[in-house]
Amino acid sequence: MSGSNDHIDGNARRYGKQAIVAAAERLQSGGLVAVPTETVYGLAADSTNASAIADIYRTKGRPDFNPLIVHVPDIDTARKIGMFNDLAATLAKKFWPGPLTLVVPKTSDCPVTPAVTAGLDTIALRCPAHPLMQELLEASGLFLAAPSANKSGEISPTTAEHVERSLGSAAPLILDGGRCETGVESTIVAIRDNDYQILRPGPITKEDLQRITGKLGIAEQSSTIEAPGQLMSHYAPSKPVRINAKQSESDEYHIGFGDTEGDKNLSASGDLAEAATNLFAALHIADAATQAQIAVAPIPKSGIGAAINDRLKRASQQE
Ligand code: TXA
Ligand code: MG
Repeated sequence: MSGSNDHIDGNARRYGKQAIVAAAERLQSGGLVAVPTETVYGLAADSTNASAIADIYRTKGRPDFNPLIVHVPDIDTARKIGMFNDLAATLAKKFWPGPLTLVVPKTSDCPVTPAVTAGLDTIALRCPAHPLMQELLEASGLFLAAPSANKSGEISPTTAEHVERSLGSAAPLILDGGRCETGVESTIVAIRDNDYQILRPGPITKEDLQRITGKLGIAEQSSTIEAPGQLMSHYAPSKPVRINAKQSESDEYHIGFGDTEGDKNLSASGDLAEAATNLFAALHIADAATQAQIAVAPIPKSGIGAAINDRLKRASQQE
């Protein structure tokens, strides 16, 4: 991989004050910056700048009907662009900063450019916990739109090298903060008056949400969708993926879990948080392996296991 490392040196900058200043300047002048969060790397731009947002969609090859998440430093800033009822405020106060995205109505004077929300009258807001992303929000003073920093439909990046590999020559300045700790994308929750609905399972689990709200939540969405991106084949390696595989065939790279050892084990001790952290890196490795296909061991669906199974199911779906 020495070739790609050379290239990484060209684009990636180690976390440090100067790198933050350079990145903030780039964002303020309408540029893109790839930045780590606690979940995955994001491809950030000023959410009020229409041409910067167009550049995100172009760089990712993302369909323009799939809206973006806007990142904010705290709930007070979030209230400038989204309307928080009591339930939304309760969730934000409990889980922010952290891997929870809240879909709320836009404010009437929301300055975010319409392409960010793909024409919806709601906006997806997240206050990330990663110190580097927090510093960038503060230094830039911007509301930062940031989808995962990969080509649309591909595996999400949990290292700077993954960003470089997926975006190739289109990769912008990458702030290298090392490996993302949580490893799967934020839980997306839509606020529906005084109830809520999980649109994407993630690190904040169904059980967490039920405990804090005292509500079961509206059943996860099926066919009527407001975020079309949720249903497409996604997080997909270039090879076929077979899930719930206790055994593998000779032409399969086997991703293991617990007692199912595999060629690479997500967590030998059967720890789901550890498995989530390792998930996308393992898919990247499996994708680059010599075997023609990928098999993945069964993974329990409890807790963050729901998010792992959601991503694997999408990875296994052919478009
Ligand atoms: O952890 C994360 O959430 C990462 C990091 C970078 O923050 N970001 C991320 O963004 O996963 P992205 O673009 O890959 O996924 C955003 C999802 C999309 O599937 C989109 O459909 C949904 O959020 N979304 C955005 N705005 C929405 C809205 N107004 N209503 C419903 N869904 C929305
Ligand atoms: Mg994504």
